[in-house]
Amino acid sequence: MRYETIKAHRLTPIVGAEISGVDLTGPLSGQQVEELRQALAEHLVIFFRDQKLDFESHKAMARAFGDIHIAPSTRQWTEPGHPEITRIHADENSTFVAGEDWHSDMSCDPEPPLGSILYLHTVPEVGGDTVFSSMYAAYDRLSDRMKAYLEGLTATHDATLGFGGITPPGMVLPKSSHPVIRTHPMTGRKTIYVNRGFTTKIEGLPAHESTAILNFLFQHVQKPEFQCRFSWKPHSIAFWDNRCLQHSAIWDYFPNRRSGYRIQVCGEKPY
Ligand code: SIN
Repeated sequence: MRYETIKAHRLTPIVGAEISGVDLTGPLSGQQVEELRQALAEHLVIFFRDQKLDFESHKAMARAFGDIHIAPSTRQWTEPGHPEITRIHADENSTFVAGEDWHSDMSCDPEPPLGSILYLHTVPEVGGDTVFSSMYAAYDRLSDRMKAYLEGLTATHDATLGFGGITPPGMVLPKSSHPVIRTHPMTGRKTIYVNRGFTTKIEGLPAHESTAILNFLFQHVQKPEFQCRFSWKPHSIAFWDNRCLQHSAIWDYFPNRRSGYRIQVCGEKPY
């Protein structure tokens, strides 16, 4: 696709592009927003360098693409006075990091976020990359028999799986049912929508069959040829589409510090 207000440099033929020529710390024109929307649809995750976002410019950027999604499961990590902003932070005292398991953000919510905008201001000298995998590519590489088998099935996505041990006892966490294969509302393409971080079972199947199929899919979606890997620098941004991507944050930098903020943009009920 040709753009007039931005430049896109692909990371791989399948997924990911670094975008230049746009300043996200100030207001965006209608054409810039439209071209960024197109770039997200084309590349599934778009990256930006050297953008010193503050809370207000981060929120303004997110609002250019929709309302802000407030996720109940991550309430305790929001920035005081800014319920829209989740802190993503790890240092020498951390016992876990957000998003290490392959997942699609908040697929436990009834209407999971369309996209996530992660801004990191502090990163380790090396390590702390995020890996993204295209769920279009993963779906396209299934056999026709497997595609037919999965069509029409639904799965349970339960926040307890990822957040059960790290949220206050008694906190009610969301659980939702979504199609195993969903359709992207903008491109009309099909994607695999089960993930190791949130999906507990395929509904209506015997438990052993559900577990076997989920394990097959969890392995399948991690194939390197569906992926790109982003190496962060201070003040980089990743904006990804949760409807057609899974991602995993690599924690190979302990005890170093990696820190920033994430905002999610509201999405629709998967179909
Ligand atoms: C997340 O899963 O949203 C966090 C990703 C990251 O820290 O790279």
